[in-house]
Amino acid sequence: MPTWKATACSCSNIAFIKYWGNIDERLRLPANGSISMNLDGLGTETTVEFRDDLECDVATVDGQEMTGAALDRISRHLDHVRAMAGQSLRAAVTSRNNFPAGAGIASSASAFAALSVAATVALNVVLSERQLSCLARLGSGSAARSIPGGFVEWHAAATHEESFAESFAPADHWLLTDLVAIVSRAHKSTGSTEGHALAATSIFQETRVKDAPRRLALCKQAVLACDFDQLAEIVELDSNMMHAVMMTSQPPLFYWSPTTLALMRSIRQWRASGIGVCYTIDAGANVHCLCAPGDEQVVSDRLSSYEGVLEVRRAGPGGPARVVTG
Ligand code: PMV
Repeated sequence: MPTWKATACSCSNIAFIKYWGNIDERLRLPANGSISMNLDGLGTETTVEFRDDLECDVATVDGQEMTGAALDRISRHLDHVRAMAGQSLRAAVTSRNNFPAGAGIASSASAFAALSVAATVALNVVLSERQLSCLARLGSGSAARSIPGGFVEWHAAATHEESFAESFAPADHWLLTDLVAIVSRAHKSTGSTEGHALAATSIFQETRVKDAPRRLALCKQAVLACDFDQLAEIVELDSNMMHAVMMTSQPPLFYWSPTTLALMRSIRQWRASGIGVCYTIDAGANVHCLCAPGDEQVVSDRLSSYEGVLEVRRAGPGGPARVVTG
């Protein structure tokens, strides 16, 4: 009897230029392009086994059985792969994150990247990296960026086939460190899927989207030249612009805690004093502190004794999503 089983793993990623808002919610076609770095050691390993004895898809994530909307989202993603393979077999999905649940690190990017690779390999669907990136995007926008390795750009485009992510520098190009300062373990009140749908209700979104090509070019240039000062300025500006849109959408979304804001101020002071560090914040209160090579230890020491910081997670640039067995 043939086995329809494969295991894949993928890194999470942190956006330097953020994705916020779609021009097509169903296809998750982003309003603007984005740039990110894969996070080595913060990721997901997923096994997918298609079986003829299952009547519906089943999934466990970190040992917990998925039900309701979470299971539906996985099932809908598997439907895309089943359609490509001309198959109707249901699947058992087992997924593990190597960072604790509730640590406030986005898991949907690595989860849907790993699921896309495992499911296609299990059903012998051969896709290029570009096609895999488009497929992962349908599950979670930022998952498109976790398919290629290192420093990645995800292109905004009008069609499914054209909106994919690709690497523009390998992981070993620049040994930046992301120190994730965990300031809250609470689940975010408004998830990103819902948040993207609100972006257009902010009058600032149009301006943010129009200016995106300029920020993308500056960010890419800074990464390629390993120019930390230029990177720091554009990364913080971009994060601030996304949060300005969030705070002025209807209803408004406030993700920061008092510690988030205190850290933003401290990090700017530390940089002014000569330490290579800048901040970027996603749809949550935790602060990603990007450190220039050689400055990660001093920043880590300061974060560890910072009031309100519960834990610090460390990651360097990570590689592409890959097959483990299959
Ligand atoms: O992929 P999603 O739908 O979880 O959206 C990610 C949104 C941000 O993390 C806030 C920004 C980004 O580009 O990763």
